[in-house]
Amino acid sequence: MGSDASQYRGLGDIIVTARPFDEYVAMFDLHDADLLAGPVLDCPAGASGFAHGARALGADVTAVDPVYGGPHDALVVRARRDTVFGNDYVRGNPETYSWGFFTDLDDHLTRRLGAVDAFDADRRANADRYVVGALPALPFENDAFALVLSSHLLFVYPDHFDAPAHLAGVRELARVCSGEVRMFPLVDTTTAPWPHLDQLRRDLEGVGHGSEVRQVPYEFIRGGNDMLVVDGSASLDA
Ligand SMILES: C[S@@+](CC[C@H](N)C(=O)[O-])C[C@H]1O[C@@H](n2cnc3c(N)ncnc32)[C@H](O)[C@@H]1O
Repeated sequence: MGSDASQYRGLGDIIVTARPFDEYVAMFDLHDADLLAGPVLDCPAGASGFAHGARALGADVTAVDPVYGGPHDALVVRARRDTVFGNDYVRGNPETYSWGFFTDLDDHLTRRLGAVDAFDADRRANADRYVVGALPALPFENDAFALVLSSHLLFVYPDHFDAPAHLAGVRELARVCSGEVRMFPLVDTTTAPWPHLDQLRRDLEGVGHGSEVRQVPYEFIRGGNDMLVVDGSASLDA
């Protein structure tokens, strides 16, 4: 949390969150077959426990995030601090959240801190699968992944990324994907839906990427129970 977050709506600055594997499964409505069909990318992975859980199932997972450029121990400390910050934000904005996946604030904090531990262990054991990179220019070949998951960056931080940055970001996720790019949620941390979603989908269609909005069996930010699924199989130059 290096900058003055008061200039931003909702949660403010982009924090390094840590969502556990089962939260990813719910957010992206994942089934084992989705994870085992080919290489999977989590972008941005932050300090999430997704790679740890998916690897245990036998998935071939790569995590990418700009924060992997710094020392690992400091990142783990930051992720724990940001997790507590996020829990405090939920406590202070109860109208924004719905309970179901998490039972209460303590459950939220415990499971998110558990995800930091899973991230810590997985990155120590599989350091080469945690790659430094940022949208809109990822360090991967075209179609390197069969499935790309992207949670809580685009759509969620509207003061950090404008509409052109969203289009560039989604096109880059699609470039490295031969199958589905799944993005969640489509609301920000004030519960506001991303207002340019229809235009984004038209622009993606114009370059060959079909898309659909699919409901998922998960909601934490109220109204946030849809994911955007983009067809990454289209030709890059379309
Ligand atoms: C809220 S976290 C989400 C992490 C994880 N997907 C989750 O749901 O817990 C947002 C992450 O986006 C990363 N980030 C910030 N700018 C980025 C960019 N331009 N490209 C990719 N990741 C970025 C941050 O470092 C941070 O770890």
